[in-house]
Amino acid sequence: MSAQLVLLLSGPNLNLLGEREPEVYGSATLDDHVEVARAAAAVHGLVVEHLQSNHEGELVDAVHGARGRCAAIVINPGAFTHYAWAIHDALAAFDGPVVEVHLSNPATREPWRHTSVVAPVAAGTIAGFGSDGYRLAVDAVASLLDR
Ligand code: DQA
Repeated sequence: MSAQLVLLLSGPNLNLLGEREPEVYGSATLDDHVEVARAAAAVHGLVVEHLQSNHEGELVDAVHGARGRCAAIVINPGAFTHYAWAIHDALAAFDGPVVEVHLSNPATREPWRHTSVVAPVAAGTIAGFGSDGYRLAVDAVASLLDR
């Protein structure tokens, strides 16, 4: 079976992981999480392509660029989760499975974090498991792709 691409998208402020609010997000860096995703993907014969951006339009462009090229998308949209309808719409126009992942569990945090505009266009959401969430998200993608 040839390798299929999984686009992993990281939203705003996730580039600061490791330094940013470690009591909430832990001490691992974004590179550490991407490595967890890559290792999990390799088990299933999948290859992860990663992009982090602090800009909504760049994430929208990346979703468009995945159309017809990537088999699935794993996305931690950061704060865009809660209001970025352009990301919702871009993901709605993507053919393959989308899995939403969060390090923390937004449902246990401030009320404004309880809404996700990405969830309605995701096959499912994994939240609150820290770095393990990236492995779980890739495993979910693999099973959705029947790998
Ligand atoms: C986050 C949760 C969001 O509410 C927050 O804005 C983030 C990180 C998480 O991974 O827990 O930036 O997506």
